[in-house]
Amino acid sequence: MSQDLEGKVAVITGAGDGLGKLHALKLAQMGASIVVNDLGASLHGEGQDKSKADAVVAEIEAAGGKAVTHFGDVADWETGKALIQTAIDTFGGLDILINNAGILRDATIFNMSESDFDSVVRVHLKGHFVPSKFACIHWREKSKAEGKPVHGRLVATSSEAGLIGAPGQPNYAAAKAGIISLTLGIAQLMLKYGVTANVILPRARTRMTMDGPTAQFFQKPEAGFDTFGPENVLPLFAYLCSPQSERISGYVFIAYGQEVRLVRRPTVQETFTTDGVWSVEELHEKMAPTFEKLEPVKDGFSFPPG
Ligand SMILES: NC(=O)c1ccc[n+]([C@@H]2O[C@H](COP(=O)([O-])OP(=O)(O)OC[C@H]3O[C@@H](n4cnc5c(N)ncnc54)[C@H](O)[C@@H]3O)[C@@H](O)[C@H]2O)c1
Repeated sequence: MSQDLEGKVAVITGAGDGLGKLHALKLAQMGASIVVNDLGASLHGEGQDKSKADAVVAEIEAAGGKAVTHFGDVADWETGKALIQTAIDTFGGLDILINNAGILRDATIFNMSESDFDSVVRVHLKGHFVPSKFACIHWREKSKAEGKPVHGRLVATSSEAGLIGAPGQPNYAAAKAGIISLTLGIAQLMLKYGVTANVILPRARTRMTMDGPTAQFFQKPEAGFDTFGPENVLPLFAYLCSPQSERISGYVFIAYGQEVRLVRRPTVQETFTTDGVWSVEELHEKMAPTFEKLEPVKDGFSFPPG
């Protein structure tokens, strides 16, 4: 068993189930002490159940590791602040934050209610912002007090829906896009304090992907390699939490199966220029030849994945 994270302290949000739970077990196996945050909510963000986080803590302790439950809504300001403080008070510091908690309320824009939009954006985007804010304050204070960089690792969980849109998930896709820009900004700000921040866009079989029409694509195959087994994405999260990844910051990765894909930063495809001030007519004259060759974009995030 690798002990790369011996002595490190990790906070993982939404760690009572799914990928978060598996991150908690893996980082604990690697020697980290874990704060297991979870609200115990349903996939659609309803209800609360402390027993899920408690069960993960019990499993880590039974295997000889160290963990503590933090029960609560990660998007709540005071709760998110208390989450980071729990790591400091219980284990003496904070080295790793994996932002992971999430819910789904899928509908097209025609049918989406105000609360479906607000709750999904809140849990994902504000749920990434709040713990990140208090973790960054802690890391900056520690770095200034010690006069040297800290070992800070922030890993965010986004989705390919946040890169290219998803017609049936406008709330989720918008929140996941926000998570990317939030985290890349943190990466730039925190580099001088020794903190890295990266974003992973995973594909894995959890209750989230086994609910609704995507379920057929995430099934475990009867034979052969299990492409959507969650075990395929865990090592990248763990690697980006480890001391070995100190030069990797400000990047976006897609992970599933046997591949890790580094996503290129958005680039300019073509530049149109004017000699004076644009008129609508001149824009049409300069741009039409390009868009005669290009189709309107009609594909968002869809399955089966390419
Ligand atoms: N599974 C995939 O293929 C996939 C793909 C892209 C992105 N993701 C992202 O990965 C993350 C984990 O998803 P999962 O598939 O493991 O889902 P999951 O439903 O199995 O787990 C989500 C966990 O978050 C917790 N949670 C929900 N709201 C919370 C809140 N306000 N505060 C604290 N905890 C809360 C839930 O109780 C649950 O334990 C999510 O951010 C999801 O959007 C997953």
